[in-house]
Amino acid sequence: MKFFLDTANIEDIRKGVSLGLVDGVTTNPSLVAKEGKSLEDVAKEICDLVDGPVSLEVVSTESKDIIEEARRLAKVHENAVVKIPMIEEGLKALKVVSQEGIRVNVTLIFSATQALLAAKNGAIIVSPFVGRLDDISTDGMDLISDILTIYDNYGFDTEVLVASIRSPMHVLQSALMGAHIATMPYKIMEQMVKHPLSEIGLKKFLADWEKHKQLVHD
Ligand code: E4P
Repeated sequence: MKFFLDTANIEDIRKGVSLGLVDGVTTNPSLVAKEGKSLEDVAKEICDLVDGPVSLEVVSTESKDIIEEARRLAKVHENAVVKIPMIEEGLKALKVVSQEGIRVNVTLIFSATQALLAAKNGAIIVSPFVGRLDDISTDGMDLISDILTIYDNYGFDTEVLVASIRSPMHVLQSALMGAHIATMPYKIMEQMVKHPLSEIGLKKFLADWEKHKQLVHD
């Protein structure tokens, strides 16, 4: 299972990389806007830090503009994956650019049929947003299970990237279902490391070791 960081924040990416756990990064216009830098600058900084796919999202909404933007973003770095939103114009653009060899992650997926369309038109990754579905009282993880079943039924190579992850439970459920990728804020990665029994256990080991050292010295 691959872990991506869902951020454009360089400090968070550095922290994740130092844990050795980052296989890629996903960004979106909101995340890039928070950093106050251009997408190209952020992309280059991220690509220098992470040896894996880095998703960069288009902001155009007409297919011809999406195609142009996708071609430009794909050239930013060899690890760039272009993120295209799930709209009709996006599907048209996806068909064209995927045939040119541009790697596309189709984002804003909220139904299994949308994921099926994206796979048919050549997406290498789809991003279903589980947290935003949970927010409207719909089980986001059911969507992941449906997409995995459909892709398996027809042998699609498209990877399912679980997006809009809000807790370690989303990561756990994704792993149990066999989702290919989970993208998460750095905070979730940190939460996954921690367990109170690990902390209590370590404290006890170190306290016992201190006592032992004193006995040996006496
Ligand atoms: C996906 O790639 C998106 O960037 C992201 O996961 C959206 O998450 P949010 O719903 O927490 O904004």
